[in-house]
Amino acid sequence: MTKILHRRIDHDYPAAVRGEGVRLWDADGREYIDASGGAAVSCLGHGHPDVLAAMHKQIDALAYAHTSFFTTPVAEELGDDLVANAPPGTSHVYLVSGGSEAVEAALKLARQYFVERGEPARRHFIARRQSYHGNTLGALAVGGNAWRRKQFAPLLIEAHHVSPCYAYRGRASDETPEAYGERLARELEAKIEELGPATVIAFVAETVVGATLGAVPAVPNYFRRVREICDRHGILLILDEVMCGMGRTGTLHACEQEGVSPDLMAVAKGLGGGYAPIGAVLVGGKVFDAVAQGSALFQHGHTYMGHPLACAAALAVQQVIRRDDLLANVRAQGAHLARRLNERFGNHPFVGDVRGRGLFMGVELVADRGTKEPFDPALKLNAQVKREAMARGLMVYPTGGTLDGERGDHILLAPPFIADAAVIDTIVERLGDAIDAALN
Ligand SMILES: Cc1ncc(COP(=O)(O)O)c(C=O)c1O
Repeated sequence: MTKILHRRIDHDYPAAVRGEGVRLWDADGREYIDASGGAAVSCLGHGHPDVLAAMHKQIDALAYAHTSFFTTPVAEELGDDLVANAPPGTSHVYLVSGGSEAVEAALKLARQYFVERGEPARRHFIARRQSYHGNTLGALAVGGNAWRRKQFAPLLIEAHHVSPCYAYRGRASDETPEAYGERLARELEAKIEELGPATVIAFVAETVVGATLGAVPAVPNYFRRVREICDRHGILLILDEVMCGMGRTGTLHACEQEGVSPDLMAVAKGLGGGYAPIGAVLVGGKVFDAVAQGSALFQHGHTYMGHPLACAAALAVQQVIRRDDLLANVRAQGAHLARRLNERFGNHPFVGDVRGRGLFMGVELVADRGTKEPFDPALKLNAQVKREAMARGLMVYPTGGTLDGERGDHILLAPPFIADAAVIDTIVERLGDAIDAALN
């Protein structure tokens, strides 16, 4: 009997023992195509020799040095690399060990920014319903998924939520995408005014919503209007690109496609590609300067921040992505994936929407395409799809609660950036079979 408190206590997990390229193998020798990169993590696939070599080299030289005593050459090099390729205005990087830590650090740095500036009355965060920002208490508090928040609600700091930008369900039939985005921007501004602009710290949003909505990009101009509103009220914009960033949507940062730069941005997952736990906050110059010219101490820190092995892994992952021009492959294979999904599911009676960007795609299941009525949550359709996909040697990332934390089912796809057309074709074929089997 296992001594691990697994994610689900009532589930028998196969043991993963080997990974190579887009595939994983379990202890019984079964092979799986990793079409979700775990949870949009394994951007280079598994066992990449150049990443492993860089990690071996680092661990032979130095595995760990505490950041209150030392910096390390590898952390400095990663910092230079990330800032050189960051959204305009980014001046520094704060290195942590994962996505939730990155979001927590961003929230605290945003608060400290205003304290340093002599605006301690600022205390509110505004985020969006149906977002996911991580599972630590601060990240969970800004997250907008009702189910994930529910049992911990008494422990969460106060956060305020506005509508997600979710055109499939939110846009009225007589509304243009631009008008829909404008309506949402006004809703944000109304919330800021209701709270009092001088009390708001930041607006927090995933640039492309991942786990809780299933790869939903915003409508055109939405983020430009959000940026304007934040600027007008002196509020920071925190983008969470933990899942959608670091190349997943075809550009290094998803916000490049929106034409906006955040003040703070959380990245993780694809930063280290799963080779080591690492996350980062990309810090805008104005935030850094306020702290540098104030207390000169960001009042935060973790034992494993800037871990040399994790930095070596992330640096190698980013260098390989650039050297092999893998973002071009993300765009090309992303277009191929979108085409194949639309061919397979465009007329499927129980697929309501196929959406996404780059190698980050979502498929939403509905009981009725006309009314968009979701399936009864008691069916646990998303779990059935996962089971049927695993039985066919396919890893995908299905989730329930798409509409409101309870109702709705979607499947997230996030294949490695090294996937070719033949792999994409196999993914779509197996997914189609898995969905049909789950619905029978
Ligand atoms: C958008 C987003 N933010 C934050 C997190 C939390 O990251 P982690 O699980 O590494 O703590 C996730 C994880 O799925 C995420 O998708």
